[in-house]
Amino acid sequence: MTLYPEIIGTGSAVPEKVLTNSDLEKMVDTSDQWIVERTGIKERRIADEKTTASTLATQAAWKALNAAGIKPEQIDVILVATVTGDMPFPSAACMVQKNIGAINASALDLGAGCTGFIYGLKVAEAMIKSEQAKIILLIGVEILTKITDWTDRNTCVLFGDGAGAVLLKATKEKKGILGTYLAADGRLGDMLMMPGGGSLHPASHESVDKRLHYLKMEGNGVFKIAVEMMEDASLKILEQTKINPSEIDILVPHQANLRIITATAKRLKLPMEKVYVNIDRYGNTSSASIPIGIDEIRNGDKYKPGMKLLLVAFGAGFTWGSAVVTL
Ligand code: UT7
Repeated sequence: MTLYPEIIGTGSAVPEKVLTNSDLEKMVDTSDQWIVERTGIKERRIADEKTTASTLATQAAWKALNAAGIKPEQIDVILVATVTGDMPFPSAACMVQKNIGAINASALDLGAGCTGFIYGLKVAEAMIKSEQAKIILLIGVEILTKITDWTDRNTCVLFGDGAGAVLLKATKEKKGILGTYLAADGRLGDMLMMPGGGSLHPASHESVDKRLHYLKMEGNGVFKIAVEMMEDASLKILEQTKINPSEIDILVPHQANLRIITATAKRLKLPMEKVYVNIDRYGNTSSASIPIGIDEIRNGDKYKPGMKLLLVAFGAGFTWGSAVVTL
């Protein structure tokens, strides 16, 4: 019997505090014009001191549970895609499990940078298809602004915080996750990383003085590879699922840069009306950008039950991947 993971509920959460480009003009040598033209970002949400990955993830999780009419005790597995969990361990997934009272769930985090949510979809798909779980809560959450170097204009204008959650339930009907594709190339890892805080450079006065606990990125190099891999991953999943690009209702790309998004759409010959964009409001929320998109589409004017979404992401590792889902 073939089982499919149906999306039965979605939710998202972003911090209240807005940081605009004009706020950033007062912090580093930048301009609203440069940020808008080079990235498409107008503003982003910033977590306050008390807000953590698990608190935002929990808010998104409750919304998804309420939308689906599912009780926390019914959840079999909690997967949280994040590289900015509250602490190295315990996992953000275990904190969410505690917060919502999902006493029957196992819980783990997945670290695949901005592709984390797609990696989570693959794991969820495999667990449901192999009948190891019936109901899975998958969350993408990131508080990147807490590892942002606010003196580095190359990176500090790019990121924002947020969380998105989907509840997946096994069904015999062909709907929900129709296919997933994953890839990685660790040889390119140095181009996007946070070097400090792990077993290579544990926290020390020296590691702090050297600013190793901040995100570092060779933006332009990452940009060029991202455009190639976003197209490649999109074509691979369309081929794998035997779905024609014209059947896609909305492309939901990871929101790293509006120029990467428009280049991907152009290469796939999809008009921009069919492309979901939230980067102008939220900046790059890493593994949260796609599930926030899915939630906004599900609750938006254009939502039609059964609509087909093409999801595609690229991120640190390098990792990249794609999925086709129906909503
Ligand atoms: O989410 C996971 C993956 N991440 C990505 O995919 C991000 C990919 N990269 C990008 O989105 C872009 O590369 C950036 C937005 C980060 C940078 O845009 P770019 O067109 O690649 O610019 P650049 O790095 O080549 O820099 C161009 C110029 C430089 O000045 P010079 O050397 O030409 O004089 C930079 O110093 O722009 C300058 N610059 C800035 N100027 C004003 C860099 N950041 C800023 C800034 N404000 N914030």
